[in-house]
Amino acid sequence: MSNVPAHSFAPRPLSVAAAGPLVGTVTVPGDKSISHRALMFASLAVGTSRIRGLLEGEDVLATAAAMRAMGATITRGDDGSWTVEGVGVGGLLQPETALDMGNSGTSTRLLMGLVASHAITATFVGDASLSKRPMARVTDPLARMGADFTTSPGPDGSGGRLPLTMRGLCPAVPITYTLPVASAQVKSAILLAGLNTPGITRVIEAVPTRDHTERMLRGFGADLTVEETAEGRVIAIAGEAELAPQEIDVPGDPSSAGFWMVAASIVPGSDVTIRNVLMNPTRTGLVTALRMMGASIEERDPRDVGGETVADLRVRHAPLSAIEVPAALAPSMIYEYPVLFVAAAFAHGTTVARGAHELRVKESDRIAAMAAALGLAGVAVTEHEDGLSIEGRDGEPLPGTGDVAVASLLDHRIAMSMAVAGMHSASPVRIDDAAPIATSYPAFVDTARALGATPQWVTA
Ligand code: S3P
Repeated sequence: MSNVPAHSFAPRPLSVAAAGPLVGTVTVPGDKSISHRALMFASLAVGTSRIRGLLEGEDVLATAAAMRAMGATITRGDDGSWTVEGVGVGGLLQPETALDMGNSGTSTRLLMGLVASHAITATFVGDASLSKRPMARVTDPLARMGADFTTSPGPDGSGGRLPLTMRGLCPAVPITYTLPVASAQVKSAILLAGLNTPGITRVIEAVPTRDHTERMLRGFGADLTVEETAEGRVIAIAGEAELAPQEIDVPGDPSSAGFWMVAASIVPGSDVTIRNVLMNPTRTGLVTALRMMGASIEERDPRDVGGETVADLRVRHAPLSAIEVPAALAPSMIYEYPVLFVAAAFAHGTTVARGAHELRVKESDRIAAMAAALGLAGVAVTEHEDGLSIEGRDGEPLPGTGDVAVASLLDHRIAMSMAVAGMHSASPVRIDDAAPIATSYPAFVDTARALGATPQWVTA
C-alpha cells in the first residue's frame, strides 16, 4: 500500500538549561487514555454526552476526527467542554477517506476494535513513528472475530504495519482471548469489537493493565463483568450493547504529572503541587518507584471524580537512591520509564530497570532512545535488551549536551523527559525536535516556565 500520509511536524529544537528551583502549583491536562475513550464511547451512545477536561492534544484530536468521519457530531464549546452526539452501537458509518491516526497508537488500536464489528472498510494511516509500530497484536484477535486486513510490511519483511485497510464483519464472532502481551490497548480493542458482537466476548489478562475501558464502559451502561480467576482477570462483555450518554470529567493525566514529579525531585529547592491527578492504581507505578527511591511525594485531598480517585500531589526536592525497579511495576508505569530513567540519573548508585521489553515498541524504541539521549548528556548508561542500568550522579547536575542535540525520534515522552533532565544540568540539554510534545501535552513548555524553568525554542 502506498498512501503514506504527508503528516509530519516541522521540527522544533528546544534547549533547556538549569534555572534554579521549581516552585508553584500546576494543573496537568486531562488523562490521555480516558480522553480517547470518552470520545469513542460517547460517539457510540444514543444521545448527547458532555466531556469536561478533555486533553486537547493531537493524539486525542485524531480520535475526534476519526469519530466524526464515522458519523458522530463532536463540538467544542467556548467554555472548553466538548459535546458528542453519538450514533449508537452498530451505527458507525463508512468513512469517506483514510483515517489519519497521526502519532497515536491508542487511537489506531482502539478504533480498529470498534470498526472490526461493523460492516465498514477503513484505511488507517499514521506518521513515520506509528507506521513502524506492530499492529499484529490487534489484527490477530480481530481477525479471529471475522475482520479482514491488508497490512504493510515491517522492516523485517513481516506484515502488520500501517498503512492498513480493514474490512469489518457484522455480525462478528465472539471470542475468548488470553492476552499474549500485557496491553490495555489490545484488551480494549477486543472489548470494543465485542460491543457490537452478539454473545459474550471475553479477554483474559494474566497481568492487570490500565482498566479505564472496563470502568468507563460500565459507566456508559454496558453489561461488562470482571472476575479474578487462577488464570487472571477475566473480562466479559455482552453484545450487542446499548450505551447511554454521560457527563464526564476527565481527571489529570498521571503520565503528564510524572514530568513534574521527577523535575521537582531532582532540582534542589523545588516544591511543586500538581492538582487533580488520576490515582487509579493501574497508573501509579511511577509514584511507587519514586517513593522507593526516597522521593517526597505527599498525596493530598484524595477524592472521587466520576468513579476514579484523584488527588493533589505535593512533591519536594529530595535526595534519591538507586533501586532495582520491580518488573511487576511495568504495566502501571509503562509510559513513565523515560522520565524514571532521568530520576535515576540523579540518584545515589546504579538503578537497574529490566523486564520492560514493551518500551522497544512505543512511539520510539524508548530503551535505545533514552540510552543515547542520557549518554549524550553525560550519564553512564548500560543498555539491556529489556531495560537500562543507569549510574546515578548522586544529585550532581548532568554535564549537558551543549550545542549537540539529543534525538527525540518523533516521541513526545523522550522530548519531555530530556527537557526535565536539562532542568538540573551544567550546560543546557538540547533536543532536536520537541514538536511531538503537542501530541499529549501542548502546554508543557508554558507550564515549565510557570514553575520557573527556562526552556527556549531554538531558531536556526
Ligand atoms: C494505553 C495503553 C498503553 C500506553 C498507551 C495508552 C491505553 O499501551 O502505553 O499509551 O490508553 O490503553 P499498552 O497497553 O499497549 O501497553
